[in-house]
Parts: sequence; C-alpha cells; structure tokens
Amino acid sequence: MRLMNSENVANIMMRALDYVDPRLIDHGVRTGYCVLRMMEADGGYDKGTVRDMCIMSILHDIGAYKTEEISNMVQFETGDVWEHSVYGYLFIKNLSPMPEYAPVILLHHLEYPRLKGVDCSDETKKKAQILSLADRADVYRQMGQQQPVEEYLKRYVGTKFSKEVYDLFLKQQKQERNENGGKDRQERECYLDRVLGAIREQPFSDEQIEGFLKMLIFSIDFRSEHTVIHTITTTAISVEAARRLNAGERLTEKIRHGALLHDLGKIGIPVEILEFPGKLSPQAMNYMRTHVDLTEKILDGQVDDEVTQIALRHHEKLDGSGYPKGWKEADLSLAQRIVAVSDIVSALTGTRSYKEAYDKERTLSILQRMKCEGLICPYTVDVLTESFDVIMEEVKRQCRPILDIYTGMKTEYNDIIEVCRNL
Ligand SMILES: [Fe+2]
Ligand SMILES: [Fe+2]
Ligand SMILES: [Fe+2]
Repeated sequence: MRLMNSENVANIMMRALDYVDPRLIDHGVRTGYCVLRMMEADGGYDKGTVRDMCIMSILHDIGAYKTEEISNMVQFETGDVWEHSVYGYLFIKNLSPMPEYAPVILLHHLEYPRLKGVDCSDETKKKAQILSLADRADVYRQMGQQQPVEEYLKRYVGTKFSKEVYDLFLKQQKQERNENGGKDRQERECYLDRVLGAIREQPFSDEQIEGFLKMLIFSIDFRSEHTVIHTITTTAISVEAARRLNAGERLTEKIRHGALLHDLGKIGIPVEILEFPGKLSPQAMNYMRTHVDLTEKILDGQVDDEVTQIALRHHEKLDGSGYPKGWKEADLSLAQRIVAVSDIVSALTGTRSYKEAYDKERTLSILQRMKCEGLICPYTVDVLTESFDVIMEEVKRQCRPILDIYTGMKTEYNDIIEVCRNL
C-alpha cells in the first residue's frame, strides 16, 4: 500500500526544514535549480542521477540546525564550514536512503586545489564542485551585489572552483538568459517546479520514500538526547497494539505511518523547551502544544487523510480534556486512540529532561489510572498490559540499531571534524 509519493516526501521534508529556518530550504531549492541546469548543460547524466543531485541540493545544508550557523552560511566568505558539512555527511550517510551521496555533502565547501588531493572518485569530486559553485552563486546573488555573478565567481577559478565547473556554470547561465530575455529567473515557484519535476520524472522507490521519511524523523528525534527513540518506540507499540486488536493489515499500515509522523512538528519547537528540566511554564507549554499544528501544516495535502488524522490526534483524551481540538470519545477512531496511548507509554518508559524512565509496574499503574478516569482507550490499555513484556522486547529490538547509529554518529563526528579541519 502506497501512502505517499516522491513529491509528497520531498514537500514534507522541505516544509519541515522550513520551520528550522526558511533560508535553509529557499537556498537549497535555488541551488538545486542551478545544479540541475549545470548538469543539463554538461549532458550525459541519467535521469536518476539528476534527480539525486536535485534532492541532495535541497538537503545539502541539512546539517545546519543552529541559527548562527545558518547565518554564517548565507555569507560568501564563511568561517567554519565543517560543522554543518560533517553533520550533513553523517545524516546522509547513516540515515538517508542515498548514503553514496554523503561525500558530496561533506566536500561541498572544500576548495578545488585541496579537493584534488582527497581520496574519492572523480565523479564525487565533480558533483561536490558543481554543488559548491551553485551554492556560492546563490549566496552571491542573494547579497544583491551589482557585479554580474559570473564575473564575481571568475576570480575564484583555480582557488575555489575548477575551470571545468565554472565553464559549465557559464554555459547554463547563457542558456538561462536566452530563455528569459537576458535576465536571471527570480521566482521560487519556478525553481521549485523544475527541481520537483526532476523528482516526478524519475520517482523514488517505496523503500527510498520510507528512507527519507525516517531520515527526517530521526533527525528531529536526535535533537534531544531524551527523544532519540521516541518515534520509533511509539510506532512499534502502536503496530503491536493494532495487531492485537485485529486492526487488519491496511489499517495497521496507516497506524504505522500516523505514528511515524505524529511528532514531525517538533522540528519547530526550540530545543530549550524540548529539554527543559522541569515543569514547563503555562506559556512554554502552550508553545510546546503548537507542535501538533505544525505537524498539520507540514502534512497538509501530502498524505492520506486518515493517516494525517491519526498523527494529529495523539494528544486528545476521551473525555475532551486533550488538545488541540478537545475532541471526545465519539470523535476519535480506534486507530487514533491506539497511537495516543502508545505515545504515552513511550514517554513513560523513556527518560525525559524532567523525569527518569518508569519501570513496568509504575507505567502500567499510570495507564490503569488513566483508563479508569476515562482518559484513554481501555482496549489498547488492556492489550498492552497483557503483552507488555513481549511488546517492550520488540520495541527494544527495533530501537537498538537507532541507538547504535546515534552513538556512532557522535563518535564519528569528533573523528571526522579533526581530519577535515586539517585537509
Ligand atoms: Fe553549506
Ligand atoms: Fe506529541
Ligand atoms: Fe510523541
């Protein structure tokens, strides 16, 4: 069963990253357009490679989470470029369905003379150079300088960029201006349409779509040490409960997707709130609660409606005391209730900035109390209580590789950044 297509997953990634900083994706899309045109001018690339470079261009600064880093990147002569390059490399290598593009992301700020000495294929070097030049061309254009971009970049031939990619840039620039009556294109819509067109023309496989979705979800969960396995735990518990409640294969798949997407909007919540070590002030709590609205905006029109509704109802309670709608029992489907309970179990059994991880007894007694108070689905509570140990064993099995990736990425980061700074 297919719940979203290539374009949907690209849109979801872009909308989600827009909440980190809109400059990130605007810049990525314009860079992607330039990369696409340069590859067309070069010729000889298959559609899959062009599509891959388009999506990698959109995501090339995905490693930049901190505002000060993003501000750095939109300047021409940036300070330390390695931090976001290495994070981006690690995300793409460990979390994306296209690990082979990780070196392109790692090297997208490396000057040509030094790039020549790096141990990787010529093809990777050329892709890194195309991305590098397209990236700098966009940054320069955004600064609104008077000098034509090609003249400005020319002075960096040999020191930042190879003559070969500079010539490609000139070629595409000429073609572009011929098409546009002597001007450069300006509108985001037109860039976006071409870049998404490359993705439409050569769609991703279902595995790749799921891979991108998980990359996005894990990169959000990884922002806080406490939530590294929250989504995967919620999803695994939801699926186990759905099976035990005989939800059927089709609905279980929708529940799995709804659970995967349920906290997407947390990308727009500052880490200081996510990691606040105590009870949140009413103001901060209200802010925290907006993550459901953000999820709604991100998913709008991109995913099956039933899946979206499952994702958006995970904080509703059967007595109407939940949020954001305050819906009651009659308004909430079994699928929505299952994910709501699973989300609670994941939070109880995990550590949080304000609490330790609760053991089985404590978790089950809280669930029982909430069930008796008429807050959460009694059927889900019953199946989870009955099979708690087996289900949590399955949860652990699914979480282990994610935790390994998380710890591996931290160690790898420290190793690689040293090497890169000495390149
Ligand atoms: Fe960058
Ligand atoms: Fe949530
Ligand atoms: Fe959650």
